Order: sequence, then C-alpha cells, then structure tokens
Amino acid sequence: MQALPWWRNAVGYSIYLRSFADTDGNGVGDLRGVEAHLDHLDDLGVDLIWITPFYPSPLADFGYDVVDHMAVDPLYGDLDSFDELVDKVHRRGMRLLVDLVPNHTSIEHPWFRQARADPNGPHRDYYLWRDPAPDGGPPNNWVSYFGGPAWSFDLPSGQYYLHLFLPEQPDLNWRNPAVHTEFDRILRFWLDRGVDGFRIDVAQGLVKDRGLRSNPQRAPVDVAMDRLQQWDAFDHIHDIVQPESQEVFAGWRALCSAYDALLIGETSVATAEALARMLPGTGLHSGFWLSPAQLDWEPAALRRALTAPLASVPDRTTIAWVASTLDEKRPATRFGGGDRGRRRSLALSTLLFFLPGLVFLYQGEELGLVDGVVPPGRRLDPIADDPSGGRDGARTPMPWASGPSFEFSTNPDPWLPDGGRDTCDTVGHQRGRAASWLERYRALIAVRAATGAEREGDAEVVDLGTDDVIAFRRGRLMAVANLAERPMTVALRGEVLYNTHDTIEWAADGLVVREAQAVLLREGRS
Ligand code: GLC
Repeated sequence: MQALPWWRNAVGYSIYLRSFADTDGNGVGDLRGVEAHLDHLDDLGVDLIWITPFYPSPLADFGYDVVDHMAVDPLYGDLDSFDELVDKVHRRGMRLLVDLVPNHTSIEHPWFRQARADPNGPHRDYYLWRDPAPDGGPPNNWVSYFGGPAWSFDLPSGQYYLHLFLPEQPDLNWRNPAVHTEFDRILRFWLDRGVDGFRIDVAQGLVKDRGLRSNPQRAPVDVAMDRLQQWDAFDHIHDIVQPESQEVFAGWRALCSAYDALLIGETSVATAEALARMLPGTGLHSGFWLSPAQLDWEPAALRRALTAPLASVPDRTTIAWVASTLDEKRPATRFGGGDRGRRRSLALSTLLFFLPGLVFLYQGEELGLVDGVVPPGRRLDPIADDPSGGRDGARTPMPWASGPSFEFSTNPDPWLPDGGRDTCDTVGHQRGRAASWLERYRALIAVRAATGAEREGDAEVVDLGTDDVIAFRRGRLMAVANLAERPMTVALRGEVLYNTHDTIEWAADGLVVREAQAVLLREGRS
C-alpha cells in the first residue's frame, strides 16, 4: 500500500512575514523573526508553515510584485537566514512552504524592463501585449481584481499590457515556453534549498484565453461599485481557470515529486465546481477554498460554503480549508466583532478542522484577533481606498506580549501601526490560560491530531432538521455547530471530545447547543 503523503490532514499556519516578528529593528518582520517564534507554532501543533513573499520588490503590492524570484530582500534577511530557517523548521518536524508568484511580476522586473525597452526582443513575449481596440481603448473588457480595466497603455510602443492586479504587476504570458523554463528553474532553486513546497499565488490565473476574448458581462459596471462588485459583473470564462494551466501544474508536480514537495494553489474561484476543475488530481496537490474566509455570519451561506466543495471536489482530501487570510477581514470582525465574533470564529474553525483535507490558520487567528485599527493616514494597502476598505486591518503586527509595539519590534514606529491591541490579545497573556482563545485553538488542533485515524472516514453532512445547526459525521465522530442566535437541542448523544464553550448541557432529547457553540462528539451513550 502506498504511504499517505505527508501533507494529508496537515494543519498549516500562514505567516504574513512583514507583520510577524521583527528582529533587526527596521519595523518590518523578517526571517529571523519567524525562527525566533517557532516555539509558538510548534506548541500550537502546526505541521506546515507558509510564509508570504520575501523576494526583492518595489512593494507596490507589498512583495507580490517580485523583481527577483531567487533572492531574499535585505529587508527580511538573506539566503543564509533563509537556509537557517528551513533547517530549524525541519528540526522541529515541521515543514515550510514559500510563496510562488507566477501570474505576474513587478513592473521593475528585468524581464519587463527589457520587454518594454525592446518590443522586438525576446522578453516582449514574456508578457501579454496587444494593440488598442479600434476606438483606441483596451483590447478587451477584462477588469483587474483591484478595480478598473486590466490593461494599461504603454506610450512608446503604442500597445496595452495586461495586469489582473495593479498596473505595477504585469501578467506573464504562460503560452510562452520560455516562461515555463524560467519558472522550472525558480522552483528547483527553492526545492534544492530544502523547501517542502509552494503556495501558488493566483493559481486560477496563469494561462489566459488564446484569443484574449472579452468575458460575457452580467451587469453594468459603475464607478461607485467596489472592486469585487466590478469583478462580479463579469462571467470570468476567458481570463481565469483556463484548462491549459493544468499542463503547467502537471509539469510542476512532476518536478516536485522528486522532492516530495507540496503544491497548494491559491485557487481563488467563486464556485466549488471551479475549485474541482482546478484539482483534477494531476496538478496541484491541494487548493484553498476561500469562501469561508470571505463570508459574514450568514448561516445559509456558511452552510453552502462548507458543503458545496464536499459535493463537488472528487478527492476531498485535496481541499485546503481556511477561515482567515492576509487578504480578507479577520473572521472575528466579519462575524460581529468582540467575543461574539471570536466565539463564532472558533465554532467555524471547529467544523473546518473536522473536515477532510488540509486546514490553515492565519497568524493571530489563534488569538481571536479582530482587525487591527489603522487610521486613514496610516493606510498602506494599494487598495485601501476601495469602498470595501483595504487589507491593512488584517495585516497589523502580531501582538506577542504587552509592551512597546506588543513586542513585534523594538522599533517604536513599525511599518503598520500596532492596531490598537490589548494585553489580552497577546500570546504572552493567553499562553497557559485555560479559557484563552490560544488554548482553545491548541486543544482543537490536539483533538484533530488525536482523532486522525477515526477521521479517515469520508465526511457526511447530517441533516438535523434545521438549517441553523450544521453537523458532519465521519465514522463514529460528529462535529456540530449552532449558527443561530438561540440554543438548539439536537438529538445526539456521545462522548464530548471538544467543546468551544466551558460547559455542556444535555436535555432529555439530546444535546443543547448554545449560540455559536461547536462540539465534537464520539457518538454513543453520553
Ligand atoms: C494574492 C495575494 C494577494 C496579492 C495578490 C496579487 O491574492 O494573496 O495579497 O495582492 O495575490 O499577487
């Protein structure tokens, strides 16, 4: 029998490097900061760490605009500190993923500079250039994820170039074999340094429609719409999730298999069917399902977000569940803020941690953090002015302990403000305190590890006769959560293995589940 891959059931932890821990006092988190806090991750029970980009970058999009994929920006350290980190992570039995950004580069990347400087040179075709439409406007109707048209005009050559994100992030042309060769080198470079795999940024992007046809438009776009409303005004059938991207992933999979490395896509798609198309079993080993990280506390929508991928993705162990990311408002904030938001966030996590697949925490989620406060004058996210608000609130520094900058940095003025945290938010305060969020998440991860074999059975959605209570069964284990604002009694009995609340109540006709309570049970007599 073939051994299961090491990432089966792994608990991942995403580190927003710039805000995790700063050891050199420049106000920006760094690689040695990650190394310094491996205890925290190890104690929490994390198997797998993903760190956001540390490559040289002009920081138009805080590192997702890369100028050199095979180097470390001195802001964060150097290749020696990187190698040391890999070694320290491995010594603790954990694994490390780096962020691969293949959909686009920085506008300052030497490839793009050459592409621009010499329209007849070999680098021109690394990117997507087109003549203007007959009216002089953009070549098609594609919009950027960040709002506005996905095309910018290059005056000297009289052509437009494509960018699904900022104009400073031109999209690569994945129909050019030279781009494949470049990225094979980049993957090998990091694999040879010992990384355990890659988080693939914008995995739904990469190859575009050969004819760059316009997308069908569903609704008119007006300037008052936020960036996601603009995006949702189109059917994205030609710009993203093109079948040819699977060939790229299959090639990378072959390359990674020699290193036993994991490819996990930022498969940012609107439907579970699209996620399934991105996970055919021959390319990416796993893909993030981002819906639970984007929704507010709406029971019906949350139920769909949990059940739809189970129904659509053929191999459910390839789903990477996530309730919080660097790009979205934190769940405790989306779910109402304060302790109520935190409780709801833990209840959702209890379900996600029960389902087949991988699961990722985003730094600070284990502390129950709400979004940090960033005054308007301090906002840095390039999309901070979007009506939806920017991403700065989810990216304020990690609060390690009470004290200046909550011990994120010795610098009194870190790159983003500390977010207005409280002592209770810190790792130092929560560690070892029985009822703290940190200890509740630690216990949740421990239960997941302890029930690994019992959870091997496939997950079945259990109908308890109400939409307000969500329940899943795997073998004899059940996870149940109440999304309603009142207690609900469900006809279940069993041994309680995990409970988000301090007490449990049994009624004559079953388990009483309170508002935002989640319970993990081994069915049988209670
Ligand atoms: C991904 C990243 C996001 C970035 C974008 C463009 O969505 O998570 O932070 O802005 O890609 O690279």
